[in-house]
Amino acid sequence: MSYMALYRKFRPQGFQDVKGQEALVRTLKNQIQADRIGHAYLFCGTRGTGKTTVAKILRRQSIVNTPGKAVPAEPAPCAGRSGKAAP
Ligand SMILES: Nc1ncnc2c1ncn2[C@@H]1O[C@H](COP(=O)(O)OP(=O)(O)OP(=O)(O)O)[C@@H](O)[C@H]1O
Ligand SMILES: [Mg+2]
Repeated sequence: MSYMALYRKFRPQGFQDVKGQEALVRTLKNQIQADRIGHAYLFCGTRGTGKTTVAKILRRQSIVNTPGKAVPAEPAPCAGRSGKAAP
């Protein structure tokens, strides 16, 4: 089995597993549900607080959700160009 770095192995795959960022998660969920996703996002903060994690979840959720549809509790798999699920 190939090695996977711990930060990738334990990276939350959905908003429900992001800790301590309730306001941000609520805001992004509302934007997805309202189909009002911004054309760019700038994530700022201390190292290791979830910027990349939230960006990846936002990308995944905004791809798999159709406009106006509620955000599912469990994320759907998202295939990248390689055909494999995105980390
Ligand atoms: N708010 C959080 N909730 C759950 N896990 C988190 C959170 N923040 C960070 N982690 C975990 O810590 C690891 C690093 O998170 P991430 O890469 O998103 O941080 P970052 O803010 O992008 O860091 P950097 O500034 O170094 O780029 C990941 O494995 C992630 O699972
Ligand atoms: Mg990062």
